[in-house]
Amino acid sequence: MPTPTTFPNDFLWGGALAANQYEGAYGAEGKGLSVQDVMPQGIVGPRTEAPTPDNLKLEGIDFYHRYKEDIALLAEMGFKVFRFSIAWSRIFPKGDETEPNEAGLAFYDRVLDELEKYGIEPLVTISHYETPLHLSREYNGWADRRMIGFFERYARTLFERYGRRVKYWLTFNEINSVLHEPFMSGGINTPKEELSEQDLYQAIHHELVASASATRIAHEVSPDLKVGCMILAIPFYPLTPDPRDVWAAKQAERDNYTFGDVHVRGAYPGYFLRKLRDKGIELDITEDDRRTLAEHTVDFVSFSYYMSSCETATQEREASGGNLMGGVVNPTLEVSQWGWAIDPRGLRTILNDYWDRWGKPLFIVENGLGARDELITGPDGTPTVADDYRIDYMNDHLVQVREAIADGVQVIGYTSWGCIDCVSASTAQMSKRYGFIYVDRNDDGTGTLERYRKQSFGWYRDVIASNGASLKA
Ligand code: BG6
Repeated sequence: MPTPTTFPNDFLWGGALAANQYEGAYGAEGKGLSVQDVMPQGIVGPRTEAPTPDNLKLEGIDFYHRYKEDIALLAEMGFKVFRFSIAWSRIFPKGDETEPNEAGLAFYDRVLDELEKYGIEPLVTISHYETPLHLSREYNGWADRRMIGFFERYARTLFERYGRRVKYWLTFNEINSVLHEPFMSGGINTPKEELSEQDLYQAIHHELVASASATRIAHEVSPDLKVGCMILAIPFYPLTPDPRDVWAAKQAERDNYTFGDVHVRGAYPGYFLRKLRDKGIELDITEDDRRTLAEHTVDFVSFSYYMSSCETATQEREASGGNLMGGVVNPTLEVSQWGWAIDPRGLRTILNDYWDRWGKPLFIVENGLGARDELITGPDGTPTVADDYRIDYMNDHLVQVREAIADGVQVIGYTSWGCIDCVSASTAQMSKRYGFIYVDRNDDGTGTLERYRKQSFGWYRDVIASNGASLKA
């Protein structure tokens, strides 16, 4: 049989966004504050006591009021799937209430109505860097075991309300990022420099148990629901062939593998237990925790992929830029305007590694190029962006996805990150744009919020319509 060169017929093509980066309406209809509302500069600046007007996430790109127009544009590109997150604090404003906020639930009903109208499959992230602020301040976020119960109630509410309409669910966005960004990712209020490793790893354990518990609840509500974990994927290459560098790269990768290993295999791997022993950490793990992890493993594995990195134990370290984590610079690769190494082949490597390791269907739920775009007047007189650099980036990555599929890897779908320009997670800038759709909003908060199709818009429409046949190898 010849090697297949196309994507499966039911391949889910689409794009992804997160509530805190695009919805806006941060206080509308009973919504509570989230950790994002006090991070006006993302992870690169200080937190504030209360929301400040310079925080672009408060208004986002106003999807809350423009969702019909936005979803119509996604439908025009032929989207089969749309990944979005539900803002936890829209449903449980403080996080520890016993009853949900009906107005918040009703908003997502309206979004789902709109997606259904166009036959777009929803893919919902339950928690995407938007822990209710109250849970962070009162409980220290995931450092506290009581978070498991709050999350279970929230997840059950979503499964019961939307389970008939939403088949694909992700528990925590980039769950491994809590190692590097405990406040944004885990709602842990203790400043990073003061947080003990004991507390950090305990928080990770709570999240992992909560994720397995949510999987249990989803399957109780309906056996048709599919729950996936979501990992920030970065292949780490040894900087040199020195075996010590090879081992250093393996260790860096294992920091990320741990999370998939627990989600897929249902128990902590030996190398992780050794790491805890070496650090003198003893986790509080109950029998019930162990059972939950073992019995409620995920249906599929999803991940974000933007870049790769190198590691070394023998050379001078030149720290690489990167998506919430990084190692040392790979001298063979170009980098984005924000210093992220551009490595399409790394995506094929990750797909093969994850498939070989876990044998679960894989879903690429984020990938894309953050770049400064210039609005120009197109041939028909309407504003556009000549973003050939973005087209090249995505084309080259998708070609590698096709290669991985030919390698035998089962890939369910691909949702590019930030399909409509939104506020950056790490730097809270508008100018770091990923979208096929340009949003007229600037870093200083000015702009009309009008939407314009970039050149990548038509390119992606053709990719979807041809099921990948239009990609250039
Ligand atoms: C991922 C996050 O880490 O990368 C997204 O899940 C984020 O929320 C994306 O937006 C791109 O990162 P940034 O910092 O460029 O927005």
